[in-house]
Amino acid sequence: ADSLRALGARTGLRIGTAINADELGANEEYTRIAAEQFSSVTAENVMKWAEVEAVRGVYTWEKADQLVAFAKKNRQLVRGHTLLWHNQLPAWLSSDGYTTTLSDDEVKAALKKHIFAQMRHFKGQIWQWDVVNEAFDDNGEPRQTIWYKAWGGTGYIADAFRWAHQADPKALLFYNDYNLEFTGPKSNAVYELVRSLKAQRVPIHGVGFQGHLSTQYGYPDLQNNLERFAALGQKVALTEVDVRTATKPEAVNEPVNPLASYAQESYWSRTLKACLAVRACISFTPWGFGDAYSWVPGWFDDPQEGAALIYDEQLNPKGQYHVLQQDLALA
Ligand code: G3I
Repeated sequence: ADSLRALGARTGLRIGTAINADELGANEEYTRIAAEQFSSVTAENVMKWAEVEAVRGVYTWEKADQLVAFAKKNRQLVRGHTLLWHNQLPAWLSSDGYTTTLSDDEVKAALKKHIFAQMRHFKGQIWQWDVVNEAFDDNGEPRQTIWYKAWGGTGYIADAFRWAHQADPKALLFYNDYNLEFTGPKSNAVYELVRSLKAQRVPIHGVGFQGHLSTQYGYPDLQNNLERFAALGQKVALTEVDVRTATKPEAVNEPVNPLASYAQESYWSRTLKACLAVRACISFTPWGFGDAYSWVPGWFDDPQEGAALIYDEQLNPKGQYHVLQQDLALA
């Protein structure tokens, strides 16, 4: 049957994946699937600040360059992830994203230098950049990160987008976050942010909905949220989709749910269909494609959740894969 990328191409939708740089090239089956099934790739980790400038002033682009070369060879576009985030920062800058030994002015200068260095290195090779990642808490308040503190407010966001646009004027610049899928304090806050950035003529082009979903929560009003951001003139994208479920319910004395995988298939299908239904939705990216490489089991362990991706631990396509394939074929 047809690959996801070929089926997506029929409707103009890029089907992406996050890539684990350790597997790329080293794991033959992984590498084959990455090339055959997807038309866009995101570095799961190797473009993050801690990876590219662990030592202040010393840039290590090698792994990221390998990914970009892989993409080029396989006619894939690249989502750049991510320029500004409070996690995975180099130790010289901040150990936790909220505290730093640098002065406010040094923090500002470091961010500007970072955005220009990284975007110029990859200039012309990145389709969408996640310029700012996860700047809000779930309650809709801005996170009190080192950026927020250095600027004395959220003004850093506009500066980051302006610098990014100067550094690579052709890249699509995204704000990216989780829990934007449903209407609530966080998606409302990001909606207001985008509206105010537009009013100030800040170059922002898109909003990334990460899409880290769990079958233990009700399905979000995703299409509605995609539409309201699109109505602000934004592109939208699903950028980090996974659908986790409890994998050891017996450990918490709950019955094993034989229907769990059907619920997951339904969440995957509805998420893809929401994107397909919105013209401004330009890419649909699962956060990796093999359950053995997913961040989920290591993060959500009480109760244990997992099985969040569309290929199993042996890299066999699951029902979740076939549901996406069928939805794309019928689109
Ligand atoms: O590379 C080191 C290795 O040298 C060390 O021995 C090992 C021991 O802990 O850690 C390795 O780094 C890990 C890194 O992944 C690479 O595997 C980090 O500990 C681990 O924390 C890191 O996790 C990543 C996580 O972001 C960090 O916050 C996940 O792989 C990655 O999937 C996840 O992705 C994020 C998105 O960027 C933003 N949205 C949420 C999403 C899920 O958290």
